[in-house]
Amino acid sequence: MNNVTIFDHPLIQHKISILRSVETSSNQFRALVEEITMLMCFESMRDLPLEDVEVTTPIAKTTTKMLAGVKLAIVPILRAGLGMVNGMLNLVPSARVGHIGMYRDEVTLEPHEYYCKLPKNIDKRLVIVCDPMLATGGSAKDAINLIKERGGKHIKFMCLIAAPEGIKALTEAHPDVEVYCAHVDERLNENGYIVPGLGDAGDRIFGTK
Ligand code: PRP
Ligand code: URA
Repeated sequence: MNNVTIFDHPLIQHKISILRSVETSSNQFRALVEEITMLMCFESMRDLPLEDVEVTTPIAKTTTKMLAGVKLAIVPILRAGLGMVNGMLNLVPSARVGHIGMYRDEVTLEPHEYYCKLPKNIDKRLVIVCDPMLATGGSAKDAINLIKERGGKHIKFMCLIAAPEGIKALTEAHPDVEVYCAHVDERLNENGYIVPGLGDAGDRIFGTK
């Protein structure tokens, strides 16, 4: 699929393996989610436009490159997406942060929206939607629908672990959205959990359950 990037970098794969382990504490889990997001952010910003600027070094005046004023919005899907925000802000500290609250009904697996607050001028921003897990794809699809309804045009989606079913659903619903994921797992189980996955990302980040 053209607009899906799957990361094969050894550092990312190593950290994902630690993340999966049932032995990993919430404390370590949060730190790893932040680190992996930072590594993925680096790559996902590869196509940001640059412009020439004049800089005077202690030695000489020179023309060099800086980011050409792209306005960014990071939009985590609550709750688990919150764990990825600092990883993004570490590299793009001037980004604005929006929030979309979604929970998945445990029986029907249908997503339900309970909150949406986006930065102003969302139509002029590059919007990076973050959620560690792409399972059926329902939450990501609905979150992106909300952003588009509010004017969002240039949208990327970043997750740590995806099921093939989620990637298919998301790319079919939003073929214009670039998708970045650290690893694609085997499948979903009968309860809609990713196998082998890492369990419930929100519970593991926040130590609930
Ligand atoms: C998890 C996860 C995604 C969603 C993925 O959130 O963080 O948002 O499930 O599943 P889907 O692709 O089938 O929609 P959950 O609904 O458990 O809420 P939480 O983050 O508050 O725990
Ligand atoms: N949400 C999670 O947190 N984990 C899964 O495996 C599927 C959905």
